[in-house]
Parts: sequence; structure tokens; C-alpha cells
Amino acid sequence: MQTLHLDISDEDAMAAFAAKLAGHVAPGDTVILEGTLGAGKTTFARYFAWALGVDPDEPITSPTFALVHEYEARIPLLHADLYRLGDTREIHELGLEERLGRDAVALVEWGARFADELHPVALEMVIEPVDDDRRRVTLSARSARGEEILRALRENP
Ligand SMILES: Nc1ncnc2c1ncn2[C@@H]1O[C@H](COP(=O)(O)OP(=O)(O)OP(=O)(O)O)[C@@H](O)[C@H]1O
Ligand SMILES: [Mg+2]
Repeated sequence: MQTLHLDISDEDAMAAFAAKLAGHVAPGDTVILEGTLGAGKTTFARYFAWALGVDPDEPITSPTFALVHEYEARIPLLHADLYRLGDTREIHELGLEERLGRDAVALVEWGARFADELHPVALEMVIEPVDDDRRRVTLSARSARGEEILRALRENP
């Protein structure tokens, strides 16, 4: 499976990368977002949402309590945060699985723990803080669709 490493110098560069990825996703794609508290998962999701066409006046907040937020855009967007989720039974109760792989694009913070329930996952993105502004991003393909997205990103750097 392909992996792509990116050196993101600051938040503007993260916004640019989020916009770029938003240009390559299609309905049904799920992207898992990993990285320590405050790494920038929600920040990435915010720029991704705006690039996807979510109303710029719409606040894109952390789905820490609701667990899943949904936005209208060029492609409907689901933004989830599974940090507080206890076990797989709770993910079934959330009803997220039924929504994946269909009409929406999904960004799932802290989703790796539940990757089996979230399939088909296209990509896993890990954000590692280097300093206050710099982030190291690692994208790993988790399906043929993920491979396709990574190939497209490589071909249009
Ligand atoms: N290059 C960057 N990319 C993303 N965020 C950055 C960057 N540089 C600085 N930041 C700042 O880092 C913080 C990231 O916080 P954010 O809530 O997005 O993290 P998170 O990974 O979602 O955390 P949590 O695990 O608590 O949900 C924000 O305050 C953001 O402004
Ligand atoms: Mg977050």
C-alpha cells in the first residue's frame, strides 16, 4: 500500500493541502484522521469542509460531543470524532456505518481504533506536530480507492 509524506510548514500550508485533497475525493470516500490532541485534525477538517463548498459562514466545530456533524456541500460531508467512543457497540448505536461508502465524504477523527467498522476506508492521515506551526503529515492508502487518490496527489503536486 502506498504512503505519502508531506512537510506542512504552517496552518496556511495545511489549508492549501486540505483544499487539494478536497479536490480529489468522491462520494463514498472515508478518511481517518489520527494525531495527538491538538495536532490539527479539526483544523484540517475545517479547511477541507470550506474547500468542499460548505458555507464559509458555517462554523466547523469539533464534533466532540455530537460525535458526528453533517454539512451540505458539493459532496455532503460527515465529520466525526470517535475519541470518546468506548467500544464497537457504541459505534453501531451511532449509525455512522450506514452512512459511509454512499453519498457523502467522511472525515473521522480518532477513527483508526474502529477501522474495521468504518470500512471501506480510503485513506488514513496521521498529523504529527513538529513545532507550533509545522506538521508532518503521513497519508496511507487503505483501499484501491485510496491508492487512486494518492496517485492523483502525486501527479499534481
Ligand atoms: N500547520 C498547522 N496545521 C493545523 N493546525 C495548526 C497548524 N499550525 C498551528 N495549528 C494550530 O494547532 C491547533 C490544532 O487544534 P485542533 O483542534 O485542530 O487539533 P485536533 O487534532 O483536532 O485535536 P483533538 O484531538 O483535541 O480533536 C489549532 O489551534 C491550530 O490553529
Ligand atoms: Mg479535533
